[in-house]
Amino acid sequence: MNGADPRRPTTYGEVSLAVLMRTAEANLAGNIHGGEIVKLADSTAGAVSSRHAGGQTVTAALDEMVFIAPVHVGDIVHTYGRVNWVGRTSLEVGVRIEAQPHSDPSVGGVHVASAYFVMVALNPDGTPREVPPLLLESAEDHRRWREAQIRRAHRLAKREEILRGRNA
Ligand SMILES: CC(C)(COP(=O)(O)OP(=O)(O)OC[C@H]1O[C@@H](n2cnc3c(N)ncnc32)[C@H](O)[C@@H]1OP(=O)(O)O)[C@@H](O)C(=O)NCCC(=O)NCCS
Repeated sequence: MNGADPRRPTTYGEVSLAVLMRTAEANLAGNIHGGEIVKLADSTAGAVSSRHAGGQTVTAALDEMVFIAPVHVGDIVHTYGRVNWVGRTSLEVGVRIEAQPHSDPSVGGVHVASAYFVMVALNPDGTPREVPPLLLESAEDHRRWREAQIRRAHRLAKREEILRGRNA
């Protein structure tokens, strides 16, 4: 990173976590509760956004958490998070989650879920704080930014319409 350039690359805040799933996180069928996966993804997003912002962040919104395949007891769950988009005080973090049996390294990670988190950086007094801009370096970075803008427009439009309906 150039010292005079406040922008941070999408890779700056990247975080990957790996956790072994145990029976405590499972339902009676031996599948891991979706909420456990959400918690892991949220922790990943929190670490990514705090790194990018250089301080405390909170989860403002979570959408499009898609569960593609079940996770079982004994799977190692890997999360991969990175910043997709940055606004003034908020940023979107995309998290990809993969699972792999702990006892069989020949089986590659299976994509089990993906999620998009809106995180907001906070000052010590709890008010939103400006975050460093994002440096887009690759075609993938530009694609993620563009798609994050679409999600943001939908989120804000939905919120506005609901509030308008309540105040009508
Ligand atoms: C997130 C929070 C700080 C936002 O506070 P606020 O007074 O609404 O602040 P603002 O209106 O200035 O919004 C701050 C930013 O968040 C964005 N934002 C807030 N709610 C959002 C939502 N539902 N969807 C998308 N963006 C949202 C705003 O667009 C703004 O982004 P920008 O500065 O990049 O343009 C506040 O709602 C909060 O503290 N929520 C609780 C967070 C928490 O405890 N999370 C853990 C849950 S267990």
